[in-house]
Amino acid sequence: MIPRSLPAALLLSLAGVAAANAQGAPASDGEQISVKGANGAPACVTCHGARGEGNPAAGFPQLAGIGAKYLTEQLEAMANGSRVSPVMAATARALNPAQQAAVAQYYASLPSPLNIDRLAATAMHPVQPADTGAWLATRGAWDKNVPACNQCHGPGGIGVGENFPALAGQPAAYIAGQLRAWRQGQRPPGPLALMPAVATRLTDAEIDAVSAYYAGLPKAADLLASQGARP
Ligand code: HEC
Ligand code: HEC
Repeated sequence: MIPRSLPAALLLSLAGVAAANAQGAPASDGEQISVKGANGAPACVTCHGARGEGNPAAGFPQLAGIGAKYLTEQLEAMANGSRVSPVMAATARALNPAQQAAVAQYYASLPSPLNIDRLAATAMHPVQPADTGAWLATRGAWDKNVPACNQCHGPGGIGVGENFPALAGQPAAYIAGQLRAWRQGQRPPGPLALMPAVATRLTDAEIDAVSAYYAGLPKAADLLASQGARP
């Protein structure tokens, strides 16, 4: 029984809470921003996909399941121009720091679209040195002090913790663009300046090969799994 003395406004707001619960938990700020945009920034889902899965054909990166700290730093860097991104600059600038953190947190909390086990299994597959992309990813180029990308980005490029973003399935043009940005000083050095050290030691051909390798890895991993399943 609701006491008769409760003010009408409170009763109305109680009814509102009941209605929101009936439709599931109310959306977080980050989710709202992703679907509706904020302060003139467009909805993120338009380009990054309904579940942050990205759009390889259009070159829009996956955001789902990538570390919140990493994503927040990227939004800050694209807003202040230290990471040069003509497409994202105005969007990142429109969000205030709390909104950047909220939307980053939201994307970090979404399940990654990657098949982690299948991708990790690709790291065990035999590779020929002539297969430049696969070789760099799994063995590196120790003659010029480039460790295997998988050593930091995880087996199959699935990403590791807060600092090492996933590479598997990211658009090839996007991956190559980031490596070239580090070579040209158009992206901040990031933790311990690890990536400028890697990127400046790669040739253009190596950049293209390793980018194509990671972009195609989810499909290659599915193919390997189906072959392994055969008697
Ligand atoms: C018009 C398409 C478009 C919209 C809308 C868009 N993005 Fe992006 N986003 C991109 C592109 C393209 C890139 C790659 C940037 C580059 O090439 O520098 C990117 C990159 C990013 C990155 C860096 C990812 C990484 O792995 O480093 C983050 C974070 C990001 N966007 C968040 C958002 C958020 C949050 C929103 C919504 C408020 C949003 N984006 C809206 C196209 C878009
Ligand atoms: C010693 C560790 C290390 C190695 C080895 C390494 N990376 Fe990275 N990589 C990082 C870190 C740390 C970041 C995050 C940088 C930041 O926060 O700005 C990163 C980020 C990236 C990004 C940006 C991803 C995005 O979503 O924008 C790309 C692309 C990338 N690395 C490609 C490679 C490739 C290709 C190789 C192998 C040739 C490689 N990395 C080897 C540590 C490493």
